[in-house]
Amino acid sequence: PINQQQQVEEGNLWRSDCRAKGGSPGFKVAILGAAGGIGQPLAMLMKMNPLVAVLHLYDVVNSPGVTADISHMDTGAVVRGFLGQNQLEDALTGMDLVIIPAGVPRKPGMTRDDLFNINAGIVKTISEGIAKCCPKAIVNLISNPVNSTVPIAAEVFKKAGTYDPRRLLGVTMLDVVRANTFVAEVLGLDPREVSIPVVGGHAGVTILPLLSQVKPACSFTKEETEYLTSRIQNGGTEVVEAKAGAGSATLSMAYAAVKFADACLRGLRGDAGVVECAFVPSQVTELPFFASRVRLGRSGVEEIYPLGPLNEYERVGLEKAKKELGGSIEKGVSFAKK
Ligand code: NAD
Ligand code: LMR
Repeated sequence: PINQQQQVEEGNLWRSDCRAKGGSPGFKVAILGAAGGIGQPLAMLMKMNPLVAVLHLYDVVNSPGVTADISHMDTGAVVRGFLGQNQLEDALTGMDLVIIPAGVPRKPGMTRDDLFNINAGIVKTISEGIAKCCPKAIVNLISNPVNSTVPIAAEVFKKAGTYDPRRLLGVTMLDVVRANTFVAEVLGLDPREVSIPVVGGHAGVTILPLLSQVKPACSFTKEETEYLTSRIQNGGTEVVEAKAGAGSATLSMAYAAVKFADACLRGLRGDAGVVECAFVPSQVTELPFFASRVRLGRSGVEEIYPLGPLNEYERVGLEKAKKELGGSIEKGVSFAKK
């Protein structure tokens, strides 16, 4: 086994080799749902990412306009647009990373699970395309309800014989981004200095911030813990209500999705020590999927870290999270098996 320092050196060698050959290391990335509220700013930010060589923008509406617009940016990535289901396969062929924000968002009064009936079918069709055209791609699944859509994708890949649990990741980065922001506010710190693991899933009580593991280390009062946990768990609803019928988080989500995609690409490049939270096939608990800290590498998720020490408040939260999460996972699995 090689150590971290060797991995860093190996990564640096690879990068300088790429530069010596006159280019930067470039990956091929597809965004499915690229004309949507998340898709558009996500496409813009990925066009600005130096690790991206080719950017495919797919949607069932409006992708030609978004593609023409983004393609005028004077950054390295080559942009191509794909419109409608009969161009899905071309959009996916050869991709290293597929990011999926396709599907309907919440309106006030809805839960993420209320989106299941529409989004489950969308994710199933897209997953079938991935299994056929780019079975080795890393998949970043954003479409809600993530707690069910990730199990759906897994079942589709199993059925197609292409399943690699290391390459399927539900994006929970926005929960971490929110946790860092809200905790920094309470502590009076710069959010860039704060890091909180958020584990479990991506809906209500399944979102479990581990405030006892905050970095830099510090402690919270009972009131602060309750306020922060509730604010992080309800961050999505806070935005849905403020947008009053015009959708859910799009800009902070695009930011979070790019932060996460960039980590996946740095992992693929061979960088050492790339660690983020994600909802993945997991043995960290008795459930088949769970969000926790994972190390990203050349084959996707290379290590899943245990939850670490929890305090009593977090232990109670974990039991509640597992109860709800189990049902959501089962719902996704049985939909895909039908
Ligand atoms: P949106 O309605 O603005 O955009 C969705 C896009 O998906 C639209 O352009 C639509 O045409 C496209 N689409 C629909 N069916 C498609 C298909 N079969 N193939 C390809 N594209 C298709 O919605 P949004 O605000 O961008 O949100 C998208 C999804 O992301 C929602 O399900 C939302 O709940 C979810 N979301 C998840 C997180 C998270 O943290 N994981 C955060 C925010 C939103
Ligand atoms: C979020 O957390 O903002 C997303 O899951 C969208 C939503 O419906 O809340």
